[in-house]
Amino acid sequence: MSRRSALSRLSALVALGAGVFTAPRVAHAKQVDHRALVEDLIARMTIEEKAGQLNLLGDPFRFRPQNVNPLDGQGDPARITQMIREGKVGNLFNGVGAEAGRRIQRIAVEESRLKIPLLFAADIIHGFSTVFPVPLAEASAFDPELSRRTARAAALEGAVSAVHQNYAPMVDVGRDQRWGRGVEGAGEDVLLNERLAAARVRGIQGEKGLADRDALLATPKHFVAYSAVQGGMDYNTVEMSEATLRGVFLPPFWAALQAGAGSVMSAFNDLNGVPSSGSHHLLTEILRDEWAFTGFVVSDYTSEKELIAHGFAEDGRDAARIALMAGVDMGMQSGLFMDYIPDLVARGDVPIARVDQAVRRVLMTKAALGLFENPYRGTDPVRERAIVGSREHHDLAREAGRKSIVLLKNEGGLLPLKSQGQKIALIGPFGSDVDNVFGPWTIWGDESRRVSLEAGFRAAMQNPGDLTVVRGSDVEGPLFGGIAQAVQAAQQADVVVLAIGESAKMSGEAQSRTDIVVPAAQQALAEAVAATGTPVVVVLRNGRALELEGAVKDARAVVVSWFLGSQMGHSVADVLFGAHSPSGRLPVSFPHRSGQQPFSYDHKTTGRPANPNLAVEEYTARYRETTNTALYPFGHGLTYGEVRYGAATLSSPTLGWNDEVRVSVPVTNTAARPVVETVQLYIHDRVASLTQPGQRLRDFRKVELPAGQTRTVTFTLKRSMLEFFDNGGAATVQPGVFDLWLAPSAQTGQSISVTLTGL
Ligand code: NOJ
Repeated sequence: MSRRSALSRLSALVALGAGVFTAPRVAHAKQVDHRALVEDLIARMTIEEKAGQLNLLGDPFRFRPQNVNPLDGQGDPARITQMIREGKVGNLFNGVGAEAGRRIQRIAVEESRLKIPLLFAADIIHGFSTVFPVPLAEASAFDPELSRRTARAAALEGAVSAVHQNYAPMVDVGRDQRWGRGVEGAGEDVLLNERLAAARVRGIQGEKGLADRDALLATPKHFVAYSAVQGGMDYNTVEMSEATLRGVFLPPFWAALQAGAGSVMSAFNDLNGVPSSGSHHLLTEILRDEWAFTGFVVSDYTSEKELIAHGFAEDGRDAARIALMAGVDMGMQSGLFMDYIPDLVARGDVPIARVDQAVRRVLMTKAALGLFENPYRGTDPVRERAIVGSREHHDLAREAGRKSIVLLKNEGGLLPLKSQGQKIALIGPFGSDVDNVFGPWTIWGDESRRVSLEAGFRAAMQNPGDLTVVRGSDVEGPLFGGIAQAVQAAQQADVVVLAIGESAKMSGEAQSRTDIVVPAAQQALAEAVAATGTPVVVVLRNGRALELEGAVKDARAVVVSWFLGSQMGHSVADVLFGAHSPSGRLPVSFPHRSGQQPFSYDHKTTGRPANPNLAVEEYTARYRETTNTALYPFGHGLTYGEVRYGAATLSSPTLGWNDEVRVSVPVTNTAARPVVETVQLYIHDRVASLTQPGQRLRDFRKVELPAGQTRTVTFTLKRSMLEFFDNGGAATVQPGVFDLWLAPSAQTGQSISVTLTGL
């Protein structure tokens, strides 16, 4: 590497927040001893045993079929038992359970030649038995500490169920709401993704190092740019500039690795013509050479085999070679590494040193997890029973749920509802439903503890007789007589709570949509109910931002409730009946129209910024049917009462190259009750060597505001916060004028400006 490119890479790292070129802190406890142990093993392993350590298969022993790819557990238990004995599989995924975990581990530790323990991995995306809000929902809390706590609780439940590795967090920045997997991530903004990625990694891995029996190995995924698929269609092609890759899609991975994540999952998509799981540039040049990552890379489910379908590999043997040489260390589910590595090495197509390197990474990780000393960690059924689904975890799920709710509008103070003396009609397919409270990505949630909206409402209301519940419609089709019943209930009520939106199945993997609307049958229900004139509170169930239309958009109050997990009904009731003021903020913009996708608040202004006055300027960047703004922008969310922003001030109008400037704003709670406000700092670089977003979030702070009180919120601005990536992959910024907003959301507030001076 030339000095210039080395320097530009270093400065890229600095801009990514590293400050210095340090390896991620993978907690390899007793590293020295383990190195010797691992090298000794490598020296004694046959090539088949080495390939076995790089082979990961679905766990057929402890598999539970609901909500997961049925192929995962299809392996024949007898055959896989034999493979474990022969050292031909070293890792299993998506099986859980302490007692069975011990039995399976015993096969490896007592019946295989080298007694290398198995690594057990699982998808614990937002909860295990206790289900927390889907990650997109929880991102609405803008609260990294909350995300750390829920990730810790979920990881703990997994750890006591004999799991060692978690395929989370998903840190793909979600800027196209048609893509179904945005529900698994932290939304459209880079900074929010970075902060939550780091927090979730800290929660998953815990504070005491990986050898702690309650820690799980975190696996940020999917490396990289998986969410940027063309047309929002899952698994589709991705094309992007280096500047966008560096500035938008890589930073959350870097943040996760800086927080100590010990493994990474490679993605399904191709990027600029090279499939991620066969990309030496991504998996070796960036991840290893630049970032000095020392953990292992696992492919996503058969993604190494999919190099064939991509037209990037001839056959299974070729695919195994390309993926391994690119930097995939462990192959998920395809078995290709087991099938072909011995022959690839025998014929000189893959150097043994590369195989040993991958094996070393896997074994060092097993060592870091303490598996050589305690292969039976997490297999105590007494602890499993005491911790899984505990009261404490359910309380946390309820708290996280209510903090994840976003109030979009509340005309005339329709909310909060009264817990007595108000007749409420709860209408819609999600009123008494429990099948759609968890969301699309849970495997082990305790279904017996799901709280419906109806149950939550009944518990919150003084006189449950004031509540009428009518389904009115199915999720994606009409219900015979449903609308008539709903209209009757609405006519007899003081207020309607309309629980509509998407089923869990409508988002998640492979669930891309073209029109991100409330399904037609439910829209018809909403129109009929609105026509009664009874005031309507819409409570949306959703795994993405939606285009709101007609009676849904025009309802007096609209609440975004996503999928909140086990305690959903109680969390929603806590906010709707006013025990807690809503405090969530949108992590994704709600567009006016589906056709605006992909959309993020930080889009560029173009050479012909739209002018709403067409008579003055018609030939601008615009659509015929709608404006370029969002209906509800990123960061938006109301509370009960009004928070007023005063004028922002700067400690100095100029920011020296190596200096700091403080920027402050007074915020006042005009309400008679305490609220939590999320103050956001956005910047805009007026003139730069690459075109820049109209606004970019650079910091945010949550503040508690007692009734009637004012607090001044101060951020510190530094040059590094103004930097961006150029197309050579280097971080840069030029002196000049920057606009700043201290505001309750994107698209709002008055800007002030600061001038960055040169050295
Ligand atoms: C495929 C998904 O893309 C990935 O996120 C998940 O971890 C694996 N399947 C394993 O279930």
